[in-house]
Amino acid sequence: MAVYRLCVTTGSYLKAGTRDNISVTLVGTCGESPKQRLDRVGRDFASGSVQKYKVRCSEELGELLLLRVHKERFAFFCKDSWYCSRICVTAPDGSVFHFPCYQWIEGFCTLELRPGTARTICQDSLPLLLDHRMRELQARQECYRWKIYAPGFPRMVDVSSFEEMESDKKFALTKTAPCAEQADSSGNRYLPGFPMKIDIPSLLHMEPNIRYSATKTASLLFNAIPASLGMKFRGLLDRKGSWKKLDDLQNIFLCHKTFTTDYVKEHWHEDHFFGYQYLNGVNPVMLHCLSSLPSKLPVTSDMVAPVLGQGTCLQTELERGNIFLADYWILAEAPTHCLNGRQQYVAAPLCLLWLNPQGALVPLAIQLSQMPGPDTPIFLPTDSDWDWLLAKTWVRNSEFLVHENNTHFLCTHLLCEAFALATLRQLPLCHPVYKLLLPHTRYTLQVNTIARATLLNPEGLVDQVTSIGRQGLLYLMSTGLAHFTYTNFCLPDSLRARGVLAIPNYHYRDDGLRIWTAIESFVSEIVGYYYPGDASVQQDSELQAWVGEIFAQAFLGRESSGFPSRLCTPGELVKFLTAIIFNCSAQHAAVNSGQHDFGSWMPNAPSSMRQPPPQTKGTTTLKSYLETLPEVNITCNNLLLFWLVSQEPKDQRPLGTYPDEHFTEEAPRRSIATFQSRLAHISRDIQERNQSLALPYTYLDPPLIENSVSI
Ligand SMILES: [Fe+2]
Repeated sequence: MAVYRLCVTTGSYLKAGTRDNISVTLVGTCGESPKQRLDRVGRDFASGSVQKYKVRCSEELGELLLLRVHKERFAFFCKDSWYCSRICVTAPDGSVFHFPCYQWIEGFCTLELRPGTARTICQDSLPLLLDHRMRELQARQECYRWKIYAPGFPRMVDVSSFEEMESDKKFALTKTAPCAEQADSSGNRYLPGFPMKIDIPSLLHMEPNIRYSATKTASLLFNAIPASLGMKFRGLLDRKGSWKKLDDLQNIFLCHKTFTTDYVKEHWHEDHFFGYQYLNGVNPVMLHCLSSLPSKLPVTSDMVAPVLGQGTCLQTELERGNIFLADYWILAEAPTHCLNGRQQYVAAPLCLLWLNPQGALVPLAIQLSQMPGPDTPIFLPTDSDWDWLLAKTWVRNSEFLVHENNTHFLCTHLLCEAFALATLRQLPLCHPVYKLLLPHTRYTLQVNTIARATLLNPEGLVDQVTSIGRQGLLYLMSTGLAHFTYTNFCLPDSLRARGVLAIPNYHYRDDGLRIWTAIESFVSEIVGYYYPGDASVQQDSELQAWVGEIFAQAFLGRESSGFPSRLCTPGELVKFLTAIIFNCSAQHAAVNSGQHDFGSWMPNAPSSMRQPPPQTKGTTTLKSYLETLPEVNITCNNLLLFWLVSQEPKDQRPLGTYPDEHFTEEAPRRSIATFQSRLAHISRDIQERNQSLALPYTYLDPPLIENSVSI
């Protein structure tokens, strides 16, 4: 008689436990055990429990290859989902096999788990294991399907595939609470208390392994409802018309003030702060160094001489590499939209900046159109205060549109969704790249589904608060993707290409590069364990299918993007994985977490403009300025969104924390520990640096970075 001792860990999520019968079958190289029910005195598989069982076989089974988990009906009770974290099996000879699971098991079904040792397909030779890999991927590809959302968009998850799934048909994944029939036929409608239409059916069928936890959902609602009700009761969400005075804008939120929101309110109109935001605001990716002026921006030396001062001139500063451009060309043909029944406007500015001898970046000139001409004045700091402030506010509006649609939603949310989907579809649980990336895809499909149901849907929030509306969003994102390159995606390459490596006090760059390097070292070690040479990368058919699918579905097969469609060396794999992890975590934190900080003073990030860009100088007054900014209800609906998305709901996992132990071997676990200590070191340095800053830069402090795009 051979006795195997099992230790079963149930997750500590709400309702993670089950009352269903759980049995197991052990499959080894020398045979398999009888199916045996795991049953002890008292409650089995309670939430957060760790319980021990024995499985008896007539003979030893050899090396364990698979653990079959059978979930079946208990008495007359209905199905009860179970979140199984892991099962540890100790063989009679004392050897230990870890079977990581970390997934919801719904319905009555059998789930086959492999031991935690990561294996590429080239490292498997047994037909049983090769067959297992194939069946696992078939089931996942049936569940997670691609959908075309709009022409030119990265492909995304087809949520209707979840509602079509039969509960018992497939491994580990199934629908819950299917109640789509309660929605009307279109499903896109107003709900009491919400200012925008919500696409209800798409929210109802979220596959349990990618759904927000109960804690995260409750936390999101806890953030949203009091803030929304506060504005609702004060009539702000329904009040049309202009703000009466600028001071009224500071009373939108009665609480939710931060050090940065107060700082922005004090300094928003200053040229230094306007320049600072290009480096350390929410969209720190816009600047390019110029060696000569583009012909579409005919700024003369005389125009900028008062700011440059004596002893230098525009040409000299260009030659010194001190002149930078923020070019909003992408907005030139963006469609516009009506809000509160009134036409809104968009500009496509060119903003010229100078890195002055004190190391500060300041604006030199602003042209609000891509076409120079008599109706397109070049605004200067020497113009009247209101003219100059309005020109800068137009640039801030363009920043809002480019940042939210492209830098934030397209380049982090949507691309990370495509990485998540390709990983789920092309890599089995035992694949080292699956184990590495899964924590960096957590909740991304869920948050994007919520965004599509509430923000991007027709008459959703984008249609309610932005000058370009949903049609403009579709235009901006598809145009943005058509121009997005692998260079843009890889921080060191992007900084080099933009010529911004020498600008002082560029904290986003400095912190970002250190985090990039830490991720790269970690990824190099992991790749080094499993890919000893070029051939091991080239022959991994699952890995090649994964990168090929990302190329085809996220980047629409565009060769000129420079994204790889195939990986040939471990070095290429390291770079691609580093960039994916960086963008899913740090880059999203850098462009997401400061939205409330920098946007709650509305003129610093107006979502819409109600008057066309000025065609002459000397016409702007406080009254015309207020009549150009968004109306009261538009402002408040947008600020609610900023507040909501800047608060990471509970159930957070900071960068480099991996409580789900998918890697069970010693070497990768050591690499995780090293990665964590590097990040802790970076955090100490950032906190020390921040003590000497008037405005601390915290968005890339590792404990404040989420592992994945999840809000
Ligand atoms: Fe986000």
